[in-house]
Amino acid sequence: MSSSSKPADNQLANKAQAWSALFSEPMSELVKRYTSSVFFDKRLWAADIQGSLAHAEMLTAQGILNSEDHAAIQRGMAQIKGEIEAGAFEWKLDLEDVHLNIEARLTELVGIPAKRLHTGRSRNDQVATDVRLWLRSEIDEISALLSALQLALVEVAEKNAEVILPGFTHLQVAQPVSFGHHLLAYVEMFARDAERLADARRRVNRLPLGAAALAGTSYPLDRERVARTLGMEGVCQNSLDAVSDRDFAIEFTAAASLVMVHISRLSEELILWMSQSFGFIDLADRFCTGSSIMPQKKNPDVPELARGKTGRVVGHLMGLITLMKGQPLAYNKDNQEDKEPLFDTVDTLKDTLRIFAEMSGGITVKPEAMERAALKGYATATDLADYLVKKGLAFRDAHEIVAHAVKTAIGTGVDLSQLPLAELQKFDSRIGEDVFEVLSLRGSLNARNILGGTAPAQVRAQVARHRARLA
Ligand code: ARG
Repeated sequence: MSSSSKPADNQLANKAQAWSALFSEPMSELVKRYTSSVFFDKRLWAADIQGSLAHAEMLTAQGILNSEDHAAIQRGMAQIKGEIEAGAFEWKLDLEDVHLNIEARLTELVGIPAKRLHTGRSRNDQVATDVRLWLRSEIDEISALLSALQLALVEVAEKNAEVILPGFTHLQVAQPVSFGHHLLAYVEMFARDAERLADARRRVNRLPLGAAALAGTSYPLDRERVARTLGMEGVCQNSLDAVSDRDFAIEFTAAASLVMVHISRLSEELILWMSQSFGFIDLADRFCTGSSIMPQKKNPDVPELARGKTGRVVGHLMGLITLMKGQPLAYNKDNQEDKEPLFDTVDTLKDTLRIFAEMSGGITVKPEAMERAALKGYATATDLADYLVKKGLAFRDAHEIVAHAVKTAIGTGVDLSQLPLAELQKFDSRIGEDVFEVLSLRGSLNARNILGGTAPAQVRAQVARHRARLA
């Protein structure tokens, strides 16, 4: 408290005193620590100031504040912004949260006009507004990071459109696929994630302010004006819902969880591919760590950690959804618990997206190992069946014939393409010399030249589509 202000002028400045005249004793130290949120919600300071300035502007336009009050509030807030940015602002536990800290400092700086700022407003609609403003700008950053990751993957996909690896089902070799095609599957996932985030953003971007504590306010506020000033798409239409809704935070965390699940699946593949048993890729040294005991080790720590952090983000989703389930209308202090999970979700997601975009560029592809693996599991058996169908057989019959051929090939330890023509013709006389192109990995790949298929021509078309979409 500045020495110039009398205690009565600034009740907010010291919560060691009681909340108001109603209270006969100060808050217990333990309760103060338990209920205070300032050491994490101070992160909302910029949104808090932004919301307060929009509120003050509207109060002035409505004749509730005069222009001197408004000018004083603007001047005080500009100074507070400077102090916070310079690290000179003194955050006080006694003042519970970011809102009361800023308001108290404003009162120290400009006096009475600061005390008029809270007219027609409650911390309940204030905090809901702050979280939404903060989350909106975080979603915008996350969307940009998601685009960057998609572009990085598209680039690797383009370079590897012709590289063949075994596609798996049940982790058993199934059919040859283009490595580019495989990577573009993740680009599809991240594209859907971006859509989900954009959709969630529309519901984040609505204004609770004006709901006051829970019932609205008797002052003639212009809520639409505040929404416009803050660039929000609309106003929350029910005051009770406005102060208690955290669906937007849950929705965002659900979308973030799905991004992490996709990252986690990619991580699992990177880890498998880098293992000695697969040997399909190598990750750049700067994304790996060694072992303190085994000198030969190079471990894919980044994807492993990302896989682990997915659990953490999904945990935050469970936390937030559980936070909401038993709450009666309207605001309850439970909602103060929305912040740490939300903050950690945003931090974890942003770091993970950044590191994955960078790491993707550092993937060394080993096409020979991929191809060798694809040659092992009779990956072109379906192609032989399709070949027989084109020669007039019904697919089910062709399937059975090929099963016999594969059995023979397994018995002699060779690939289908290594069986002599005469041998193959024993299974069906319609098999001709042209079968060997069909049985080759590249023939199999090129044959799947259909929208969404793995033929390199399709992969290149998808690369072009993604580039245009992401530009
Ligand atoms: N720090 C509180 C929160 O995060 C602000 C709202 C407090 N409102 C109240 N009536 N206690 O939710």
